[in-house]
Amino acid sequence: MKGLKRIEQIRAWVQSVLNGESSGHDWHHVSRVTELAMYIGEKEHADLFIVETAALVHDVIDAKLPDTIRLSVSEVYDQLVFFGVGKEDADRVIRIITSMSFRDRDKLAGEPLSIEGKAVQDADRLDAIGAIGIARAFMFAGAKGHSLYGNDQSAYAHFFHKLLRLKDMMNTDTAQELAQERHDFMLRFVRQLEKDMPGIEVKTS
Ligand code: ADP
Ligand code: NI
Repeated sequence: MKGLKRIEQIRAWVQSVLNGESSGHDWHHVSRVTELAMYIGEKEHADLFIVETAALVHDVIDAKLPDTIRLSVSEVYDQLVFFGVGKEDADRVIRIITSMSFRDRDKLAGEPLSIEGKAVQDADRLDAIGAIGIARAFMFAGAKGHSLYGNDQSAYAHFFHKLLRLKDMMNTDTAQELAQERHDFMLRFVRQLEKDMPGIEVKTS
């Protein structure tokens, strides 16, 4: 009962922090990632409280969030402890969210994520591919004023820089299976886009 209450408090808090955020780290993204992470975590026999908490807070420290919204690592830690999360569990959550981003993957090459972290990272990556990933990429490009194609910053280029690579970066078999369908759909979309835009400079990798 106590566990349920804590997670509800954390959920409501994250929702209020991200309220109005529109750069691709909005509450709906967090909500989808949490659901997927729980599904993966259950299949992979992870500690579901850690999975759910880490998924809920995984983006509130992201460098891409506006300064007015972004929280510091210690603010997140303190808030979790305030809600009744034990210090060891709060530490486990913090370790996950500080080490799972795509950008940090090289830095952390020698330091594997916990199974809970792997579930959350896989869920975050799954939300960047497939139909939802396509939608998010174009929303991101629109918000940043990037072009559809034609240069390295474009939405089209992003598929090759990142999105089409994510399938092979899944940590868990469960996510790998889910990724395949999303990847195939995305690839089909990209090939169709190339057909629809004859002037496009086609990328192969
Ligand atoms: P993460 O949640 O892994 O931190 P990012 O912050 O890199 O992901 O990106 C958030 C969303 O915006 C993702 O769906 C991602 O694909 C998309 N995105 C990021 N950079 C670009 C870009 N240069 N062009 C198009 N979409 C992008
Ligand atoms: Ni995310």
